[in-house]
Amino acid sequence: MGSNVAIIGTGYVGLTTGACLSHLGHNVVCADVIAEKVESLSRGEVPILEAGLDELVAEGISEGRLSFVLGAQNAVGEADFVFLCLPTPQGADGAADLSFIKAAATQIGPYLRPGAAVINKSTVPVGSAGEVAKKLGRDDVHVVSNPEFLREGTAVSDFLNPDRVVIGADDPEVAKRVASLYEALPGETLITDPASAETIKYASNAFLATKISFVNAMAAVCEEVGADVVDVVRGMGLDQRIGDKFLVPGPGWGGSCFPKDSHALVRIAENNGYQFGLLRSVIATNEEQFGRVANKIARFVGGNVEGKTVAVWGLTFKAHTDDLRDSPSLNIINRLLEVGAIVRAYDPAVEPGTSDSRLDGIEIAADLYEATAGADVLAVLTEWPEFIEADFAKVGESIASRSVVDARNLLDATALKDLGFEYDGIGRS
Ligand code: UDX
Repeated sequence: MGSNVAIIGTGYVGLTTGACLSHLGHNVVCADVIAEKVESLSRGEVPILEAGLDELVAEGISEGRLSFVLGAQNAVGEADFVFLCLPTPQGADGAADLSFIKAAATQIGPYLRPGAAVINKSTVPVGSAGEVAKKLGRDDVHVVSNPEFLREGTAVSDFLNPDRVVIGADDPEVAKRVASLYEALPGETLITDPASAETIKYASNAFLATKISFVNAMAAVCEEVGADVVDVVRGMGLDQRIGDKFLVPGPGWGGSCFPKDSHALVRIAENNGYQFGLLRSVIATNEEQFGRVANKIARFVGGNVEGKTVAVWGLTFKAHTDDLRDSPSLNIINRLLEVGAIVRAYDPAVEPGTSDSRLDGIEIAADLYEATAGADVLAVLTEWPEFIEADFAKVGESIASRSVVDARNLLDATALKDLGFEYDGIGRS
């Protein structure tokens, strides 16, 4: 018999969690504050690009285990488990802004069943479980931390095949009840206290960001000493203590989690008397990386991009998502626009005519070749597979100058050079 679950917030995390829990046999009611979103989700229309999610939402609806309602208080009446899956944006001082979480907790407090578990899935500062408990204003319900480790684009598969499930609760019995929601899944379940669970999430994301900044810094060294970072990473990764995951050099890390979580952890540490210099450097190295890629592009047009047309392939923060939040590509493009470049971009997940202020100043092309026609340089900034398959002979026919900055080391440098392109990757001399 499945459990009764409420999900507050139907963004990437909430919708994935709701659809996957209903797939596991639980009865799930998801709430949002946007009426149109609730209506379209109720018809099975998924507003985000996430592999396998449409199918699970359709399955949940047709089998009667997944529904959507307007307003958090309308989702929780029957629920034994209430997941808070709300945004925790970066506030002005770098700390996570808890106002959405607190408002929801205040709202649902009076409607909760006695004994219900309210579970923080959103990434929240250490100590937030206590804050939520205060806002709920109920001493007969429990607050639990159960952070998500879902990568956008593969969130469904990450949910159903977790490396671990982390549950932080003061009461071991409550922790076990929450763990039972996931009992059909592989992977280890770690039960700990709320502060440790909250810290595990920040530590994991900060460590992954550290790996990427490290390899991007190594790529810069490789360029100077004449080494190839791809081989260097292969050589490092074979050491099982290191591994080869999250050591792919690129234009810098971005997305909805790493930037805000790394800043938030610096702030959490500082607020508690520790100067996290290492993590500050990791963030600074990432900013440098955006600048390094922008400089590579400028170098191909003689050092000054003013009035030059830069073709860009890839706008999302990585492939297989339509998410533009904190995209390295947009950061790099904005650096170019600020100094007078004309940017024409193509991304398989961004249609021409898309209205989004983050795309202001960028011409959006309908395909690869429309982006490159007449351009002075091409920059490949995300790793969509179709870029690998591109016909560079065709690109060469209409591009003004045959030069490519491949910020994802995606392309075949030798083949490009044979076609007369100048090529610059990351960490390959
Ligand atoms: C991340 C975490 O992986 C996930 O566990 C967490 O819960 C949410 O944040 P996500 O933001 O979807 O997931 O993206 P991820 O795949 O981790 O990539 C983050 C950024 O790092 C992207 O900009 C990506 O392009 C970059 N990256 C990743 C690299 O540059 N090199 C790598 O080797 C891996």
